Amino acid sequence: MSKKKILVMGGAGFVGSVLAPYLHHAGYQVTVADACWFGNYLPPEIELIQTDLFDLKQEDLVGYESIIFLAGLSNDPMAEFSPKSNFILNTALPAYVGFLAREAGVKRIIYASSCSVYGYTLNKTYTEEDPAICNYPYGVSKLQGERSLLALAEENFQVICIRQGTVCGFSPRMRLDLAMNTMFKNALLNHQITLSNHRIWRPILGLEDLCQAYLKALDFTEEGGHLFNISSFNTTVGELADSVAKFIQEKFQFEVKITDQNIQDYRNYKVSTEKAKSLLHFQAKQNDLDIINNLYEHLDLFSDFADERFYNISVFKKLVAENTLVE
Ligand SMILES: NC(=O)c1ccc[n+]([C@@H]2O[C@H](COP(=O)([O-])OP(=O)(O)OC[C@H]3O[C@@H](n4cnc5c(N)ncnc54)[C@H](O)[C@@H]3O)[C@@H](O)[C@H]2O)c1
Repeated sequence: MSKKKILVMGGAGFVGSVLAPYLHHAGYQVTVADACWFGNYLPPEIELIQTDLFDLKQEDLVGYESIIFLAGLSNDPMAEFSPKSNFILNTALPAYVGFLAREAGVKRIIYASSCSVYGYTLNKTYTEEDPAICNYPYGVSKLQGERSLLALAEENFQVICIRQGTVCGFSPRMRLDLAMNTMFKNALLNHQITLSNHRIWRPILGLEDLCQAYLKALDFTEEGGHLFNISSFNTTVGELADSVAKFIQEKFQFEVKITDQNIQDYRNYKVSTEKAKSLLHFQAKQNDLDIINNLYEHLDLFSDFADERFYNISVFKKLVAENTLVE
C-alpha cells in the first residue's frame, strides 16, 4: 500500500523539525514547505520545498491527503513588532492555503493554533466551549486563523484546529524564547530566573505529546470542523521556575535565584484536554521533569546561548531590515 502523503507548511521551524521526522517514522510520506527563516535542520529523508507559502498554487497541493499548517508568526514579540505581517501570515495565509487545499481535493487541514486565544482568564480551567477573548495581536490573529479555516470545513474537507499550550523541549531548530526553555537557559547562564508574575497559569506542551496529538488528529475521521486544546499539564510559572531551579541546582551545584517582578500579565489561562482525550484518544505523557531532562540531555546542541537563531524576534527583525520580509 502506498504511504499517505502529508505536506507540513512551516515544517522547518521549532515544532516541524521534530514533528516532520516523527510522522515520517510513523509511516507517512512527509514533505515540508517552508521559507526557512531560521535555516533547515530537517533530516534528508524529509523532502523540503523552500518557498513562500503564498507562492503555492492549487496544483502544488494535489495528491496530499493532509496538510499541517505550522507557519506564520509564532510569538507575541514578532506579532507586536509587525502587526501587519502577523495578520497576513497568521490569518490570511491559512485561509488562502486552506482554500487551495480544499479545491485541490486534500482531505484535511490541521492548523497549529494556540491556547493564547483564551487571553486573561479567571481561575477556571477552560474548555473549547468557553469564550476565547484576547486583545493582543498574536492571540487575535490565531483566533481569526482558526475561524477562517473552520469556515471552509465541509463534508469532504475536514478542519482541525489544535490549540497548543506553550511548546517546550529540545528541537534541532532550537528556540530559547519559550517559557520553560527560557527558564532553563537563564538558570544556567545567569543563575537566576526572572518572572513577570509567579501566579500566572500556563498550559505547557512537551514536543513528544505534541507529536502524539498530531498523529491522533491525522487518524480522526469525523467530518467537519473541530477544535482541540492540547497540553501536557497546566502549571503556574512560579511552580515551573521552582522545578527548573531545583533541577539545575542539583545537577550543577550552584544556587539559582528566582525573582518575581509582580507585573500584571495579559495572558493567564489553564486548559482542559478532556475533549482531545475522549475524541482523539490523546493522553498526555510528559511532566515538567521529562521536559527539563530532555533539555538537559541535548544541552551540548544549544549551549551557545548567544546564537541569535534561538530567538525568533532577533531573526525576524533582521529579515525585515534586509527587506526579506515586510514589517
Ligand atoms: N512554539 C510554541 O510554543 C507554540 C505554541 C502555540 C502555537 N504555536 C504555533 O505553532 C506553529 C509552529 O510554531 P514554531 O514554534 O515551530 O514556530 P517557528 O517560528 O519555529 O516556525 C515557523 C516556521 O514557519 C515558516 N514560515 C512562516 N511564514 C512562512 C511563509 N509565508 N512561507 C513559508 N514558510 C513560512 C518559518 O520559516 C518557520 O520555519 C506556529 O503557527 C505557532 O503559532 C506555537
